[in-house]
Order: sequence, then structure tokens, then C-alpha cells
Amino acid sequence: MNKLLADRFEGQLGKGSMIRKMFEIGLALKEKNGEDSVCDFSIGNPDVPPPAEVKKAMHDLADKADQPFAFGYMAAAGYPWLLKQMAEFYSKEQGIKVEPGEIFIATGAAGSLSSVFRATLNPGDEVLGLKPYFGEYDAFMRNTETAYVGIPLKADFTLDMPAIEKAINKKTRIFLINSPHNPTGKIFNRGELEELVKVLRKKSDEFGRPILLLADEPYRALVYGDEEVPSVLPMYEWSVVVGSFAKNISLPGERVGYVICCPNMPDKAGFMQGIAQATRIMGYVNAPAVGQQLLKTLLDKKVDLNIYARRREAMAKALKDAGYEFVMPGGAFYFFPKAPIADDIKFVEEVLAKYGVLGVAGTAFGMPGYFRLSFCVSEEVIKRSAPGFKKAMEDAKKMK
Ligand SMILES: Cc1ncc(COP(=O)(O)O)c(C=O)c1O
Repeated sequence: MNKLLADRFEGQLGKGSMIRKMFEIGLALKEKNGEDSVCDFSIGNPDVPPPAEVKKAMHDLADKADQPFAFGYMAAAGYPWLLKQMAEFYSKEQGIKVEPGEIFIATGAAGSLSSVFRATLNPGDEVLGLKPYFGEYDAFMRNTETAYVGIPLKADFTLDMPAIEKAINKKTRIFLINSPHNPTGKIFNRGELEELVKVLRKKSDEFGRPILLLADEPYRALVYGDEEVPSVLPMYEWSVVVGSFAKNISLPGERVGYVICCPNMPDKAGFMQGIAQATRIMGYVNAPAVGQQLLKTLLDKKVDLNIYARRREAMAKALKDAGYEFVMPGGAFYFFPKAPIADDIKFVEEVLAKYGVLGVAGTAFGMPGYFRLSFCVSEEVIKRSAPGFKKAMEDAKKMK
């Protein structure tokens, strides 16, 4: 008599709570030892302010707010004028001519992924991807009664091609790649992606149906140094890119993202209709009108990358000085160092947190033995965390 929730939510409510738990540990520590006692690297909520043009665009928008339909419904795929602008912009970015009809403006990268999954997956299908991975993928899979299977990256966080090839089976419908990668910050290079495409072609032939290559790119603009983020669209006709404006211009709450279908995809019209249908049945209707209108002058803008770059250097120094093993992230705003004891949860929650330094155990990303640090905090906080990292390492050495 007291149960209202659907069966599929049984046992799921506690999932994804590891980041939340760190947040609560942080609150308790702050209350006990004061605001400045905590260096919180647990959450990836971009704190670098949006580019100055956002404020100007907001003012311009406010001036038109008294017009009829200023924020009315629009076509499901988004404002036609914005789709046109995006087609021009993404043709350059992705290195292939994209038409407005091959783009769908959706509610963030998360909404974009959900629409692609909803449109292409049958219950029982499998989405193959990487491990570690963005934990929300599991939640999206539950929506479609499918499974996410992550293939571990190699120790240097490059793709393990033999393992990927071995894992593809007749249930594999999508290969999901995310670059720059959450949680490692890794950018997968052209050679790796070409190799991946080769394997996908071979396996698609073997199983008699195409395997979609889905590139999740919300961190595309956050790249340090001159590393290229190769596009999969010119490489493989069965490919789709999703992205958003959450990180590149710090608008995560505004929930605007996009799906770009490979212009060479056979039956691309059917795919795009499927995305529209999926978006409608999930009740999203269309992406937020305000966010879309802001983008008019913002497509080619990005946050001040120098801020993130300085933090990346500061974090690398703090970790290196304390003796942690890590791969320098090429993009995004995360480090994924090795935990100095095997039990990553214990290390993060009991050892590191004791010194007011908060991260998230690798287990939350399907990869025990590591931990994630997000540098969405000021350089000053990163520098302040250095002694904590050192003491935690000293403690860990005694625990071995
Ligand atoms: C890998 C990855 N994909 C998708 C998303 C969702 O992005 P959005 O806020 O644009 O929905 C995130 C957000 O953190 C992410 O890390």
C-alpha cells in the first residue's frame, strides 16, 4: 500500500550518490572547521564565468521580451535561423559540410544523448564505450532498458583496440566515445579513432547491421596546448556528434545542446525524424528558447581557457609534489590520479577527506583504484590543498 515508485527504480535511488556523499562530507567539514578548511574538487560544475558576450546577449534579449512569441514554442529541432548558423559553424569545426537539417538542438548533451538512445536502441541492446566513464550513462541506459558496457582504457588512458574488438557482439548497437574525456581529461587521437572506425566497419559487416559511433563532446572547446580533437563525422557515415554549451561557455543550467548527424549517413532523414520523435515522447518539446536566442552571437565564443590552464598546472604541481601517479589531462577539467591504496573509496572518504580535500572515488566511474579531481575551483584553493594531498599520501604509505 505504501509503494508508488515503478519497479525499474527499485534499488536505483541510491545510485550516483557518491558525488553527493562527498558534497555532504564537505558540508560537515566546513561546519566543523570553517569554510576555508575544505578544498572541494568533487563536482564538475563550471565556475569560470561565461564570456562577456553572454551579458550583452541577455540585455539584447531583455529588450525584446515584451514582443509576442518572444519565448514561444518553435520547431522541435530549434530556431531555423540558429540551425543555419550552427550548420555553418559546425561545418568548419567538424571538417565536413553539415546542413541545417542534420542538426537538432536539444536539452544539453544529456538530453541529446537520451534522444539518440531512445531513437536507436531496442530493449536488450548494448552500448559499448569506455571505462572509466561518466556515470550518468548508466541512468540513460535504464531509460531504454539497455546496458552500458565499458572497456577499460589502457594505463596511459589510450584506447585498448584488441579489447574493444573482442567486446563487440551482436547486441552492440552503439559505440560511445567521449573526448575530451570525463573523468581522465584524455583526448583520443586521430590514429586511435581511425582504428576504431575500422573495427566498427568490420564488426558491422560481420553482424549485418550498422554500429553507430556516438561522440559525446561537451568538453570539445576545453583543450590545453595544441592537441587536435578529431571529428568522427568525416571518418564514418554511421556517426553522430552530441555536444552542448555547458562547459565551453559556462551555461550548464541553461540546458542547450545539439545532435549532429553525419551528412553521409544512409537514411539520415529517418534518423533525424527519430530524434524529433524521441524528444517529443520524452516531453522535452524543444530546447530552452532563452538559451537558443543567446547563442546568436556566442557559437564561436568560449570561456577564458587561461584560467583553467593555470589551475591544471597548479593541480599537476600539487599532485606531483605529493608523489601521486597521474596522466596529464589534455582537455576538460578533471584529473584522474591513481589512488595510493587499492581501496579508492576508503582513500577518498577517509584519508583524503580527513585533510579537507574532496574528490570522487574511481568506483563512481566504473574504475576502482583511481579518484577524480575536478578543477572547477580557484587556483588559490588548489594551492591550499597541496599539504592535504601530501599528508594523505604519507598516511596511505603507512597503510600499505
Ligand atoms: C561526458 C559528459 N557527457 C555529457 C554531460 C552532460 O552535459 P550537459 O550538461 O550539456 O547535459 C556531461 C556533464 O558533466 C559529461 O561530463
